[in-house]
Amino acid sequence: MWRHPALRPFAREHFAALMAVRDVRWAAQSGRTELVDRANRGLARAWQLDLAAHFEREDRFLRPLLTSAEQDELDAQHADLRAQFGQLVAAAVPDPDLALHCAVALHDHVRWEESVLFESLQARCGGSELAQALAGSDRAPD
Ligand SMILES: [Fe+2]
Ligand SMILES: [Fe+2]
Repeated sequence: MWRHPALRPFAREHFAALMAVRDVRWAAQSGRTELVDRANRGLARAWQLDLAAHFEREDRFLRPLLTSAEQDELDAQHADLRAQFGQLVAAAVPDPDLALHCAVALHDHVRWEESVLFESLQARCGGSELAQALAGSDRAPD
């Protein structure tokens, strides 16, 4: 699906998130403890290194452009995921059931953003409005 250039950094990070999700699912299906542990650690690391900041940038840059119903849904999903990933990264060894739960929730969240939220934004906002509102959204704050 076509993405406005201003949304592409978010979309690229979604792709990376879905790769981490895929690894967790494959590892769980394999039933091999070492693969499960490696994939689950990878998901926890992805949260700490990339996804937590990704969520913050969405809240800061994307949220103001959303309808009030979309904001409520984004807030609810982000709060739920932050709580789940907070538990995941707090453990010395990621809990396999929790990691799988986090992976499924993250997958569903990314799919919702891509298929509903981004489509809605692109349909409702002009290209220059998106570019202006999202300028700087692809990097960490100074
Ligand atoms: Fe998000
Ligand atoms: Fe996202």
